[in-house]
Amino acid sequence: MRLGLATALLLAVTGCSGVTTIAVPRGGGAPARMLPQLPPMDRTVLGSRLAAAQPEWAGRALPLVPPRRMVNCRRAKCVALTFDDGPGDETGKVLDVLARHHARATFFLIGQMITQRSAPFLRRMVSEGHEIGNHSWDHPPLSTLPKGVLRRQLVRTEDLIRHVTGIRTPIMRPPYGATDQKVEAETRREGLSQILWSVDTLDWRDRNSEKVLARASSVKPGEIVLMHDIHPTTVQAVPRLLSKLDSKGFTYVTVSELLGRLTPGKRYADGH
Ligand code: NI
Repeated sequence: MRLGLATALLLAVTGCSGVTTIAVPRGGGAPARMLPQLPPMDRTVLGSRLAAAQPEWAGRALPLVPPRRMVNCRRAKCVALTFDDGPGDETGKVLDVLARHHARATFFLIGQMITQRSAPFLRRMVSEGHEIGNHSWDHPPLSTLPKGVLRRQLVRTEDLIRHVTGIRTPIMRPPYGATDQKVEAETRREGLSQILWSVDTLDWRDRNSEKVLARASSVKPGEIVLMHDIHPTTVQAVPRLLSKLDSKGFTYVTVSELLGRLTPGKRYADGH
């Protein structure tokens, strides 16, 4: 799995506080293996992926985008639920539950997870009013990468999302929350705001629906909740989470709806 030992190490460092700058451990065994260096010319790989994706959508119109709602989160009890590292096999179930609750959420997608099979989920996200964010191509800690590699991590994913949906996303989430001045400069350059989180469900570590439910439902108005729709235990928690948050009177908003005007490069961890 991509979320292996290095993730555990890194997340152990970030904890649940939404800390934005971390020291990626060096000299250990795991990080070296964790740093996928994209080849200098990755257009061929991207090209073949796009070509593989193309036949299915040839002649199909891009999804219609519902307008962004004007929600006053100073008055409403807003919560931004975010789902990372997909699209995965379970993503459709999350979309079904969100639809039943008329809830909007934000999905931070990994470029290499967008395949011919999973790409229809992106179109569904867009047409059902959810927001899509860039979560890099293959989930390295961006702060450890040379500038050019870092940029390709963002641009490749950006290109693929735009190809599939017609949307250009204004937001990204640095994997592991690992960010620094270099990441800030590159995201600013790409017109992307950095979205962190204020509630960490630790669902990658505790594959336990009850724990995920308890942590996520402790959310306060204006917060951003971090979950992963690639874990079945998280997906199983979502129906009860929404029922619980419904009963507390929460309004489900996308990250952009929560934050309003976004500044490229800037880090956001909540709507306050
Ligand atoms: Ni992630």
